[in-house]
Amino acid sequence: MYNLPRQSVPAEIIKIISREWKNKDLGIQSITKENLREIETVCRQIEESVIPKQFVKKKLPGKIGHGIFLHPKAEPILRDQVIAPYSGTFTIVPQNEQDHADYAFDPVTDLHLTKEEQKKYDPKRRFHPKRLYSIKLDASKVGNFTRFINHSEKPNVIAYLVSSKKNPYEIIYFAKKKINPGEQLLVSYENEENSYWGPLGIKPFAMTPKTFRIDSSLKIYTDL
Ligand SMILES: C[S@@+](CC[C@H](N)C(=O)[O-])C[C@H]1O[C@@H](n2cnc3c(N)ncnc32)[C@H](O)[C@@H]1O
Repeated sequence: MYNLPRQSVPAEIIKIISREWKNKDLGIQSITKENLREIETVCRQIEESVIPKQFVKKKLPGKIGHGIFLHPKAEPILRDQVIAPYSGTFTIVPQNEQDHADYAFDPVTDLHLTKEEQKKYDPKRRFHPKRLYSIKLDASKVGNFTRFINHSEKPNVIAYLVSSKKNPYEIIYFAKKKINPGEQLLVSYENEENSYWGPLGIKPFAMTPKTFRIDSSLKIYTDL
């Protein structure tokens, strides 16, 4: 069951990030007190009902799998409102040699590890001081409903790395624009390097938040 509201970065990994990214810009997005309250609220909802009641998980046609929709009777979600933290398991992996992971983010890259750290996180290889590592946040085994949010080049959801007293590094999904009841929540999986779909050799299905919608009886319909 994917019911983990949010995930703290292990203290040892925080130490490595702080050491390696000292004086560099991690691109952390600032958030408001209202955002912090929204995070607390959605975390409580995940604890109570796994999928917050304003969202619906539905199986889509073809090979896309499941997706997340805003309930047709819910209030619209306004731009910059919090959707939820993206939760999963944090690890450190060699930067250019990691397996493709369908449910993973690399929120921090370009880390050097000490000999002891390489022994712990990359035990099968000989120490190399210049090898680069990234932090991986993987929701394949542990996570919450955000792991079911599909990809679009015209997304209504955006992921930011944020920092708060409770969690120094956390990926939070926000509304990128207004999300209307019945629409699908979609985020872009790609960064500048087209890193997600390229290695898979798959062309993603081109959908917008309105391509598939759900009606008042929670059935999927499409204008296609
Ligand atoms: C993070 S998961 C999203 C949830 C997934 N649909 C499920 O049911 O578990 C990512 C996977 O969903 C599918 N997916 C997401 N967006 C897609 C798209 N636009 N076209 C085709 N497949 C998509 C792909 O299989 C992708 O590897």
